[in-house]
Amino acid sequence: MTAAVGTDSTSPHDQLPLLQVIVGSTRPGRVGLPVAEWFVSEVAEPGPFDVELVDLAEVNLPMFDEPRHPRLGQYEHEHTHRWSATVARADAFVMVVPEYNYSYNAALKNAIDYLYDEWHHKPVGFVSYGGAGAGTRAVQALKQVVTTLRMVPIFESVNIPFVAKLRTEDGRIEPTAAMSESAMSMTAELARWVEPLSGLRNEAGLRNGAGLRDEAARSSTDGHSRRVRRDLLSTRTGTGVEP
Ligand SMILES: Cc1cc2nc3c(=O)[nH]c(=O)nc-3n(C[C@H](O)[C@H](O)[C@H](O)COP(=O)(O)O)c2cc1C
Repeated sequence: MTAAVGTDSTSPHDQLPLLQVIVGSTRPGRVGLPVAEWFVSEVAEPGPFDVELVDLAEVNLPMFDEPRHPRLGQYEHEHTHRWSATVARADAFVMVVPEYNYSYNAALKNAIDYLYDEWHHKPVGFVSYGGAGAGTRAVQALKQVVTTLRMVPIFESVNIPFVAKLRTEDGRIEPTAAMSESAMSMTAELARWVEPLSGLRNEAGLRNGAGLRDEAARSSTDGHSRRVRRDLLSTRTGTGVEP
């Protein structure tokens, strides 16, 4: 792996679209975090995206507590403003989702429900995992939710059956070849959707990810997302982009 996971904020010079990998599971001992870390390491090589890992356990939202509908964008709580700023700056998402009782987990639904415009017209892919069903029932349930928020779920996905068997002694995930291949094809398909959908965001008067990222870089980090440094980017572009 040539990219390292850092804890710094965004760089204003870096104009690649931003992919946020959202860790849905929040429970102690979850498999979700190592699965997300594997996915990030797989796609963080120079490619179409900058990658940011967003861990809902760190975001630590309470059960939805805003008095007004999120479509109004009139948030009362600091935790909502922070979550809004995080999601708004993304150009695409990957949701890393466990299967709980034939659906996805409550913490992810709660985090989705908090916001509205911030999700609109952005492509989303899924890394699911579980037992024999590989989390596919969770993905089916999620698709009808994300389309309500005008996200565009893509067909390509990573579905991991019997995920516990892939865990190493030190807690990492040992991927199969099929997982690695599907991670790459899903990421490539996500990248195809970024530009057309950003046009729709502009038409709808929604601010796009790049402007918001510059703004975030001028202020401070939100403290709950980890930027993946693209150490090879300067080699590839010759621009000496800061990590
Ligand atoms: C409350 C709960 C319900 C579960 N329901 C299912 C299920 O319906 N289908 C399945 O394949 N696995 C199910 N599992 C197993 C999980 O997929 C497995 O424990 C996985 O590691 C959970 O993800 P996490 O470790 O990131 O929380 C369930 C686990 C929990 C804790």
